[in-house]
Amino acid sequence: MRYTRRNFLALTGAVAGLGLPKRAFALSGATPLLARETSLQLLPAGYPETSIWGYDGAIPGTEIRVPQGGRVQRQLVNDLPEATSVHWHGIRIDNAMDGVSGLTQDAVPPGGSFDYDFLVPDAGTYWYHAHNRSYEQVARGLRGALIVEEPQAPDVDRDEVLILDDWLIDPQSGQIAENFEQPMMMSHGGRTGNYVTTNGRYNLTLAAQQNERLRLRLVNAANARIFALRLRDMTGWIVALDGMPLAVPEPVTDMLFLGPAQRVDLFVDITAAPGDSAALLNVDTDEPFPQVAFEVAGQGASVARTAPAPLPPNPRMDAPDLAAATPFKLFMSGGAMGRMESAVLNGERKGFRQLAGAGYFWALNDVANMPDTPLAKLSPGEQARLSIINDTVFPHAMHLHGMHFREVMNGRTGPLRDTLLVGANESREIAFVADNPGKWLFHCHMLEHAASGMTTWVEVA
Ligand code: C2O
Ligand code: CU
Repeated sequence: MRYTRRNFLALTGAVAGLGLPKRAFALSGATPLLARETSLQLLPAGYPETSIWGYDGAIPGTEIRVPQGGRVQRQLVNDLPEATSVHWHGIRIDNAMDGVSGLTQDAVPPGGSFDYDFLVPDAGTYWYHAHNRSYEQVARGLRGALIVEEPQAPDVDRDEVLILDDWLIDPQSGQIAENFEQPMMMSHGGRTGNYVTTNGRYNLTLAAQQNERLRLRLVNAANARIFALRLRDMTGWIVALDGMPLAVPEPVTDMLFLGPAQRVDLFVDITAAPGDSAALLNVDTDEPFPQVAFEVAGQGASVARTAPAPLPPNPRMDAPDLAAATPFKLFMSGGAMGRMESAVLNGERKGFRQLAGAGYFWALNDVANMPDTPLAKLSPGEQARLSIINDTVFPHAMHLHGMHFREVMNGRTGPLRDTLLVGANESREIAFVADNPGKWLFHCHMLEHAASGMTTWVEVA
């Protein structure tokens, strides 16, 4: 029997009426990706189960792994109580598949579905997450890893995907705090949690061997937290940022900062002796703790290896020609303790208090809501450079959909990225080649900021 949408709805309704678990059926050839509510043991033993929203009911959501140049076919089935969509973060994707509710597609209502079908041009570490009411849906757990494998596996012993996240938990109930739209969080640094996890686990511990070389694929899936990390008893190199390989692996000598939505691929050699442990330390606070611990048992090799070779380059990595690039400006204002007195909301100038009353605390180029006209209108192949002036006292993680950019520093361009951390009161500049046609969001990935004023878009047409 072929399930049509009508009998699918009738069937799930009937099943729900019997109090049996609901089941979703694939409506097309694509593998379903079921967004649903479930309860699981997120907190340490002794605490109750926590109700979360997850892809296939899991934390982290189902890992999607495809070869470079391959095709992802997933049918999102929405079994949540509200509408949703999926954004494939960092993929230089066909615009129609970008998953932005209200820009590239309509949000999928409860009981509905959407067929995602796209090619992945670049190898690397990417992720996917909800893109409707993201500040709530991602915080409830709707995110997973999307790994695109290099044609030739790099020379490592193991590959570990590590999704760093935090959760704001009500300690009384053990449930996710429901204060998603609290003005205090929107207008300050965003919603940071009180429970820090890796792959949904506090104190994640992995087994390792001395002199083993691991590839760690770090993904910051938190709404607003900037992770500060250090390596203990391992030697590491950054081999890729936001999915894109570095031309030369860069030794990790200092703290690593990972803003919301950013990824870093590390190669690490475990130097701790058998019986000891190595760690990826979280050094956010005065009391560093292992974000991930590696318990060393045995020796992988008797001697340490030499420095790693770079990952193979992805296609279309040419640096933009700065002299030929069209300049644009992005002025970021607002937030608590800021200087913004007014901004335009839906075509009308409003004072800060009025904006706050309507749930807006920030503005990009003086506009608080998502503007009707793009920040930049570019023709295919055009090069653009964008200065970003952060006139607020908070850092922001600026993310461009559909294309990677390079930061411009002292007239030179840095590595390709899709998300840039811009510090409080800092000015930065990025440049990119507008080689992917469509309407692309450009927003702060502190998801509360995106929802309360820090969202705009660029058009390549
Ligand atoms: Cu990762 Cu617009 O998002
Ligand atoms: Cu922000």
